[in-house]
Amino acid sequence: MNLVIDRERLLSEIETLASFSDAQPPAVTRIIFTPTDLRARAWLKEHCEGAGLEVRQDAIGNTFARWSGSDAAAPVVGTGSHIDAIPNAGKYDGIVGVLGGLEAIRALRRSGFRPKHSIELLVFTSEEPTRFGIGCLGSRLLSGTLSADAAAKLTDGDGASVEQVRLAAGFTGELAEVKLANGYYKAFLELHIEQGPILEREHVPLGLVTHIAAPATLRVSIEGSGGHAGAVLMPDRSDALCAAAELILSVENAARNSGATDSVATVGTCDVFPGAVNSIPSRVRLSVDIRDTELHRRDAVIEKIEAASRTILEKRGISIRTELLNADPPADCASAIVDALAQSCKKHGMNFLPMVSRAYHDSLFMARIAPMAMLFIPCRNGYSHRPDEFASPGDIARGALVLAETLCRLSV
Ligand code: GLV
Ligand code: MN
Ligand code: MN
Repeated sequence: MNLVIDRERLLSEIETLASFSDAQPPAVTRIIFTPTDLRARAWLKEHCEGAGLEVRQDAIGNTFARWSGSDAAAPVVGTGSHIDAIPNAGKYDGIVGVLGGLEAIRALRRSGFRPKHSIELLVFTSEEPTRFGIGCLGSRLLSGTLSADAAAKLTDGDGASVEQVRLAAGFTGELAEVKLANGYYKAFLELHIEQGPILEREHVPLGLVTHIAAPATLRVSIEGSGGHAGAVLMPDRSDALCAAAELILSVENAARNSGATDSVATVGTCDVFPGAVNSIPSRVRLSVDIRDTELHRRDAVIEKIEAASRTILEKRGISIRTELLNADPPADCASAIVDALAQSCKKHGMNFLPMVSRAYHDSLFMARIAPMAMLFIPCRNGYSHRPDEFASPGDIARGALVLAETLCRLSV
């Protein structure tokens, strides 16, 4: 079998997909179910159909593009990732796994290979939490981690619910039917940029993920008392932003002092009301992202943040409400798929490194319903979630080749 990745075509598709964006290049912003996202989805669907794949979309917009195997009843070998992009992102996060997956399937078809198990490209809806507060909406529903009722009620910053938004976007089926049947997958494999510096630093072209770290998200609402910035004297104030400032530093300290460098915590958004220079902030909303490779340590950091918020509210006489939006366990990759990846790397003479994924991925949830693994390629300086995110053409093509080789091994 002669597997050849069409590198130029893959790179040009990555550029085209980046042009579906609500930010000035090189930044990419593509928020789920916006007109831009819907145009990108239509473009991608057309490309999947052009590759001879049969496309179906479920009620939340997860898109499956199938190459039917000779045994139609056999469990599916899946690959894929996401095409949504956080505000001011780059063009590779998620995209490499989707367009690299499509090119891997095209390369297998060109080689004359015929799979026994169907091979499916899966494009997940809303891996990023930007619009509805929690990430991996599509894979949470596919895996039954989130109920249809709970998903339907999630709201965006304008108060629009998932139910309203997905119907308006044309995804009209039943959310309850998104969950996949047990045994649907034989294997699921996601190609992704590392989003960290290790592969580049070690001069190793491929990472075989063995474990995905545990993510959690807290939403914090702080209510103080507003007023005139000149007239209200300092002893009489209940400034919500000053309380938020203390809490933000407690978040940093909780992660820094956990005893392990694997603990990380970030306050990524801070909405201040009313947001006028001469007005004391009366309300602040924060979102806090907390992760660790060890569940007990991640939960200890959350507990420290909650304890700090109790201390701050007592000291300042204001109200602080914390809401745990998600607290997911880590996932282990399936050793049989990691072994298949290692065999593929060896066959093509490529060096690889076993590693942990500190970012979360839809594969975290796919692990609940399928043997799962992930393949990482390097990204420059480890940068991700920023416009200068970059993966080299050689690394992208290598990732797609090893993906194709492994899909072949898994689908015979
Ligand atoms: C995914 O984008 C993550 O935040 O890990
Ligand atoms: Mn991301
Ligand atoms: Mn991603």
